[in-house]
Amino acid sequence: MQPASEVVQRAADLRAELARHNHAYYVLDAPSIPDAEYDRLFRELQALENDFPCLLTADSPTQRVGAAPLKAFPALSHGQAMLSLNNAFAASEVDAFDQRVRDGLDTLSTVDYAVEPKFDGLAISLTYEDGIFVRGATRGDGATGEEVTPNLRTLRCLPLRLQGSGWPSRLEVRGEVLMFKADFERLNARQRAQGDKAFVNPRNAAAGSLRQLDSRITARRPLSFFAYGLGLGATAVDVRTQGEMLDRLASWGFPVAAERRVVTGAAGLLDYFADIAALRSRLPYDIDGVVYKVNRLDWQETLGFVSRAPRFAIAHKFPAEEALTVVLGIDVQVGRTGAMTPVARLQPVFVGGVTLTNATLHNEDEVRRKDVRVGDTVIVRRAGDVIPEVVAIVADKRPMRDLLGCEPVHDPFELPKICPECGATVTRGEDEAIARCSGGLFCPAQRKQALLHFAARRAMDIEGLGDKLVDQLVDAGLVHTPADLYALTVDTLAGLERMGEKSAQNLVAAIEQSKTTTLGRFIFALGIRNVGEATARDLAKHFGQIDALLAADLEALQAVPDVGPVVAVSLRTFLQQTHNRDVIAALQQAGVHWPAPAPGAPLPAQVLAGLTLVLTGTLPSLKRDAAKAMIEAAGGKVAGSVSKKTAYVVAGEEAGSKLEKAMELKVPVLDEAGLIELLQQGENT
Ligand code: IVH
Repeated sequence: MQPASEVVQRAADLRAELARHNHAYYVLDAPSIPDAEYDRLFRELQALENDFPCLLTADSPTQRVGAAPLKAFPALSHGQAMLSLNNAFAASEVDAFDQRVRDGLDTLSTVDYAVEPKFDGLAISLTYEDGIFVRGATRGDGATGEEVTPNLRTLRCLPLRLQGSGWPSRLEVRGEVLMFKADFERLNARQRAQGDKAFVNPRNAAAGSLRQLDSRITARRPLSFFAYGLGLGATAVDVRTQGEMLDRLASWGFPVAAERRVVTGAAGLLDYFADIAALRSRLPYDIDGVVYKVNRLDWQETLGFVSRAPRFAIAHKFPAEEALTVVLGIDVQVGRTGAMTPVARLQPVFVGGVTLTNATLHNEDEVRRKDVRVGDTVIVRRAGDVIPEVVAIVADKRPMRDLLGCEPVHDPFELPKICPECGATVTRGEDEAIARCSGGLFCPAQRKQALLHFAARRAMDIEGLGDKLVDQLVDAGLVHTPADLYALTVDTLAGLERMGEKSAQNLVAAIEQSKTTTLGRFIFALGIRNVGEATARDLAKHFGQIDALLAADLEALQAVPDVGPVVAVSLRTFLQQTHNRDVIAALQQAGVHWPAPAPGAPLPAQVLAGLTLVLTGTLPSLKRDAAKAMIEAAGGKVAGSVSKKTAYVVAGEEAGSKLEKAMELKVPVLDEAGLIELLQQGENT
């Protein structure tokens, strides 16, 4: 039998060690021991606590698994009210905010602001007594929230005991509980596999997961947390600025936004807004704007509050990405490869900064799963560059035939068995989600899409050949294949609706100009299934000329980097078909050409093969697209954020947090000249 003091000490050591590994794993994203070793220590502590229940403490990592279910959440009144923020949507409102701040401080000089993302989750208050997490609550109405302590304890990234020093004996930390996008996708996949309902978005999933009376359920949900401020006890912490406060929170073990910064004046705020808007889709979690706070805490106090919001802070919000509207009809669109996509025609609605009239329903199974019907009120979403989609229906707003609400007015959606554009049969492979029209290029819809793809900027780049014109050309029987474009004359075109002499001349000139291209663009323009821009470029680089590609068998095709069996079969199937070979020949006949590779010329050296680079700031002469293209041509990848896996960070003027991150992770930093030097190394080999 070990002496009691040794057992007590061992338990304390295990708790501290496990907490350290937890922090490394969940907050710093830098695992410090193998999972199996963590499990071993965890089980050792569990066994000790089992044998000696008096050793069990509130901050023990073993307490993260959840506790017995509650009947209801106790109400908890906040010692200091949890307020909300005023919103700004336009730059002018941000200017006005900055002006109000300077007026309030009676200063003519510029003001520094601490800025960070506005997390799209739910606000939480956490109370620590003598460094131990004792209580946590939701915001509720701001004055009183729901106590969800056992649930919060299950969040691995939340310290149960504060690290470091400098915290007052009673401390309240505020922040946001949320779910990372990748965790949300995984959770939903699991929900569906188990036959449970999927969540509409990460925010709802986070709220639903935190508000479980059975915290053992919460423990199985991948929740995260970011701290953004202090409540009670704030004045006892020795920091002078908001920025220092966030650093202090990080030192105590809390996750804080890596994208936080301190900027100067209204111009600094707007630059930051633009940077984060550009980064938004690549952030691992959802945000709905950015938050600006006067950096100096004494100034925050001077400015104070007006009604329920601080005068020293404001939320600059992105336009809402989700809105409610009504489905007027469901059409089917036929794509370039025959894919039949159901599309909801919507009552026009303003969302994500534009007016939407259509939203994709993806495929037959998705419509069934969401059970979208004509007349339904739906949540639509338009996020960044993503295609607008119907997220879910609002079930209790469905139009019903009878007052009891048993018989819906409209039947469930069914995909037509016959292509509405050409009458060909619709087929769907056994394991495929997508049904396709079997009409091929005989189907006018597929032909139109193929022509639009051929003319696209990244393909043959024929300016002025848009969908209205393609509709007319195909419907009038003037164009059947891309090769027919090169026979169009000003006279023929000028005869079309809404086409003047001048536009006709411009279009003929653009078609003429497109004859000089590159092999990569040409291959991409053919619209071969599974062959995107990058694969087309790789094929061009590898084969050098079209005849070599036409002659390649499956094995030869798979010798190209990144071409696997699926892509090889797509290529072979396309290139073997006589009508496709005829079109390729006719295009060359019409004068489409590209520079031939110099005899015996080596392939471009892949000096950056397998390496990931990050660009930040403004380079003196290279535009960002150009730098990216050069890196990719040398086999490298360009990523949006810096990690330990980043090979180089290329930094220009006004490089921000990415440069800081590079320094922190000791990632080598290059300027433009350094990048060019690196790329040139390959040219000598
Ligand atoms: S500071 C006085 N910072 O936005 C309130 N709030 O409209 C100070 N939120 O309920 C809040 N991210 O939950 C602050 N970086 C951030 C935030 C943030 C999200 C939420 C917060 C609050 C709401 C205010």
